[in-house]
Amino acid sequence: MAPAHPHDHAPDDHHGDHGHDHEHHDHGSAEQMAAWRDTDPSLWFTEAFWDDRYRERPIWSGNANQRLVETATELAPGRALDVGCGEGGDAIWLAARGWQVTATDVSPVALERAREAARAAGVADAITFEHSDGRSDWAPPAGAHDLVTVSFVQFPRAELTGFHRKLAAAVAPGGTLLITAHHADSHGGGETPFSAELFATAAEMAAGLDLGPDWQVSATDPTREAVVPPGPGGRPTTVRDAVLRAVRAPV
Ligand SMILES: C[S@@+](CC[C@H](N)C(=O)[O-])C[C@H]1O[C@@H](n2cnc3c(N)ncnc32)[C@H](O)[C@@H]1O
Repeated sequence: MAPAHPHDHAPDDHHGDHGHDHEHHDHGSAEQMAAWRDTDPSLWFTEAFWDDRYRERPIWSGNANQRLVETATELAPGRALDVGCGEGGDAIWLAARGWQVTATDVSPVALERAREAARAAGVADAITFEHSDGRSDWAPPAGAHDLVTVSFVQFPRAELTGFHRKLAAAVAPGGTLLITAHHADSHGGGETPFSAELFATAAEMAAGLDLGPDWQVSATDPTREAVVPPGPGGRPTTVRDAVLRAVRAPV
């Protein structure tokens, strides 16, 4: 998964009180960036690393990601899979709109926090939380979901296509695959601990997946507004995402 995380919210910025309704990921504080810099990159995608990070404090805003909102608002609710759900912002947003959601993450600490947030939001019955490692031989049930979404879970490039193929296989006929990832323009190189090569563009993700004629694919690298660093001291800035949307033909 991704070094998704130059984008942590500052501790006092949790629950999205920074005025961006759907803003979810911003550049992190210097302290949080240091956690990445001080950790061997081979450990960035493991349960131990993420549990440590989630134990320190809540990380994300609790809001749904903008790309999910853009994609799912018009969809009829059905069965959704949210992989790498973190603290549950996307899964809870979906459940509140009538979706039956399976939400997975490698971090039990994150899953417990997400469960609690789902209970507080009154949607716990609509979400099944599952502990699983996307880099293992875990694979979600084939063809079983009307929406499969993954937000900012970016494994090493060599593993990315294999991971994405598992997610595509989990989409039901007529269903939608949404992959939202960080883009090197905003998240790689420079002051970040991340190599620009770690980040694929949407076109590169689409080329890797090579979904074929049964799918309608849209691959874009749009920008969105964010506050960097998050919180009252931050300044509005523009960040770029890599967004792959693919709709599977109905049978
Ligand atoms: C940047 S966070 C994004 C969380 C959530 N999708 C969101 O947008 O708020 C990346 C998430 O991926 C999870 N993750 C990291 N490695 C993973 C792995 N190997 N398998 C499954 N999830 C993983 C982390 O625990 C973390 O919750």
